[in-house]
Amino acid sequence: MPFVIAIDGPAASGKGTIARALASRLRLHHLDTGLLYRATAVKGGDPVTAARTLGPEDLERPDLRSAEAGQAASRIAAIPEVRAALVEFQRRFALQPPGAVLDGRDIGTVICPDAALKLYVVASDEVRAARRAAELGADAAAILSELRERDRRDSERAVAPLRPAEDALVLDTSDLSIEEAVAQAIAAAERAR
Ligand code: C5P
Repeated sequence: MPFVIAIDGPAASGKGTIARALASRLRLHHLDTGLLYRATAVKGGDPVTAARTLGPEDLERPDLRSAEAGQAASRIAAIPEVRAALVEFQRRFALQPPGAVLDGRDIGTVICPDAALKLYVVASDEVRAARRAAELGADAAAILSELRERDRRDSERAVAPLRPAEDALVLDTSDLSIEEAVAQAIAAAERAR
């Protein structure tokens, strides 16, 4: 069985950074599943058709990381047929030898419920807003309300809402440097291996 690590958590909690670092240190494949939802939203037209016809070129658009794309993604991510259209690609990705790290909102609960390790990465609202503001060169107060709105929508939707899997290890990165957070994730992965 390929070694699968599922990483979930709210926006800007540090899960993407941790996922990339784990994949590179453990030599695993990495999939940022938020990009699939962002690309579906940015593609435009009927979102279900967009999800079903998503191709590699859609994932390379330069505008996917913007706050607007994040908001649009969280709206279309509540549509059950959109989520269903993206499940198989994610599961197949996870099965590639020698294994993979996937990060998103429902990896431990829906996509890879049998993952060897499930991390649920959190950080305080203020820390998340400050990090994202620094990344995007934007104002932290505006970012904070955008993150809260998106988290609320992601947590309250009926299908695959944002929540920790029962057996997830919660990692609070509020007071951790990137190096400290990555070190804790690697230690957890080594115990799970
Ligand atoms: O992780 P990121 O912020 O790029 O995700 C953008 C949006 O895509 C999230 O706010 C969420 O609505 C949706 N998403 C999801 N399930 C995932 C990954 C992302 O619903 N596994």
